[in-house]
Formats: sequence, structure tokens, C-alpha cells
Amino acid sequence: MKLTKLLALVLVIALAVCAFAACGGNDTEQPQTNLDGVNPDTGDNSNVNTDGVDPTPVITELGKDTLVMGTNAEFEPFEYRENDEIVGYDVDTAKAIADFVGMDFSVEDMAFDSLITALNSGQIDMVVAGMSVTDERLEQVNFSNPYYRAAQVIIVPKEGATVASSADLAGKKIGVQEGTTGDIYVEENVENADLNRFKKAVDAAIDLANGRLDAVVLDEQPALRIVAQNDALTVLDEALTEEEYAIAVRKDNPELLSAINACLDDLAETGKTDELLTKYGLNVEDAE
Ligand code: ARG
Repeated sequence: MKLTKLLALVLVIALAVCAFAACGGNDTEQPQTNLDGVNPDTGDNSNVNTDGVDPTPVITELGKDTLVMGTNAEFEPFEYRENDEIVGYDVDTAKAIADFVGMDFSVEDMAFDSLITALNSGQIDMVVAGMSVTDERLEQVNFSNPYYRAAQVIIVPKEGATVASSADLAGKKIGVQEGTTGDIYVEENVENADLNRFKKAVDAAIDLANGRLDAVVLDEQPALRIVAQNDALTVLDEALTEEEYAIAVRKDNPELLSAINACLDDLAETGKTDELLTKYGLNVEDAE
């Protein structure tokens, strides 16, 4: 691992020099790639390995020693609470990023629709929350390379459902998590929807199971977890959207963005990504 260690060190020093020279500017745009595309950026960093990273330089660069992940821990299997601890695929990935840059790690749990404000005010350093890349969000933050392909789906009661496909959503009572792409989808695509916004998707699911809603629109993987834990509910086999999850960072933090992308590449190359996907029951092909 000598060579990779050296390359890692070179990367860190390069980042330090870059920041010292104040290059990057305030609105540095990183090229966006999608999961099917090739990232022109990754060539440089592909040999960096977590094993040998000297922690100190990036710490100095980011000006602090704890990397703070902001999330909304209501989104199993990406982030959720288990015995009062916040766990999940995103948490493990974020911890790996903290390790990669040699920083301590902490998590702040908050409402999903507060995350971007918390990021831009400096309360958190990155949003790792199954957050989908959207044009509106790209105006406010930078996104890392995407790490998971996702879709909105419809949850309905197993018995007596009034919705059998997206065509039936018009005019119905629909539950969503506030500020999510599910919320945006219903708002923009469903005529006369009686839109019910919840802080937690599980609360929407409870209302659905109790007959107070006709359907819930939610990201596929969390929806599958919810119905697995609720006998009365099922997920319709229709994808309403095509989305990609990525990590959001402040636009004035290109050093962290590069380090995150280098780390995501490293996790993929070393097989760690597949290991984590399997650990959380996620689809390996949705991360490729
Ligand atoms: N992917 C959706 C979005 O970006 C929902 C994400 C919700 N995440 C969460 N941790 N609650 O809007």
C-alpha cells in the first residue's frame, strides 16, 4: 500500500495548497455525473486508499476536527434509529468519509426540510440523507457523485385500496414527507390532490393504515421497509420518478467535495460499497 499512501498524501497536500492559494472561489461548480456516466474527475483520485491517509492536512484545511453529518433519521435503511443510535447505509458511508479525511465524526438529526439551511449556515458539513439531486437544490448546494438510484413509489392499503396506479392519485388524500421529492412530485403532477405533509414518513403510513389517507408517496427502499413492518400496507409496482441520491456540501467547500468523491471511489474500488449495500439489504445494481 506504499504507492497508494503516497498518492493519498499528494492529494491531501494538493488540496491544502489549493485552499491556501484560495483557488476554487465561492461558486466552484463540480461537474455532475450520473450513475450511468463516467466521471471525468475520478481519474486523478482513483488510487487514493483509505488505508494510508495521513489525517492531519485535511483537518487543517477544513478548519475543524469533527466532520458533522446532517440527516433526518426517518429513512430506513439509509438512516434510522436503532436502540437510540442513528444507523444506516448513509451513516456508515459518512463515517468512512470522516475516516478518509482523518476527522472525528458526529451526526445531527433534524427535519428533512431544514437540512439545506443547516448546511449553508455551517451547522453541519454535509447532508447525507438519501437526498435526491434536483435542479432547485443544485442552486443552493453542490452534490457529490451520486451513490444510489431511487424512485418514488405509492404505498396503499392491501384491502380496499382506492388507488391502483399513479393515474388514480388525482383528487385523493395523499401523504408525503415534507420537502421531499415525493412532496414535489404530488404537488407538480397530481391534480386536486389533498396533500398531507408529515415530518416523518412513518406517521403518514400510520394514517394510511388507519384509513385517513388513500395513498402515501415515498422513496422505494424506505417504502419497502415500512410495508415489511405493516401487514396492512403494500407498495404498487410503478416507479413515479427516476432519482439519484448524492451527498450535499456547501458551494464554498470544494475541498470537502473532492475528498468525498475520492472516498466514494475508494469505497467502490475496495468492495466496501457492495459490502455496505448488502449489510443494509440494498441493491448492488442501483449503486452502479
Ligand atoms: N429522496 C427524497 C428527497 O431527496 C427523500 C429523502 C428523505 N430523506 C430522509 N432522510 N428523510 O427529497
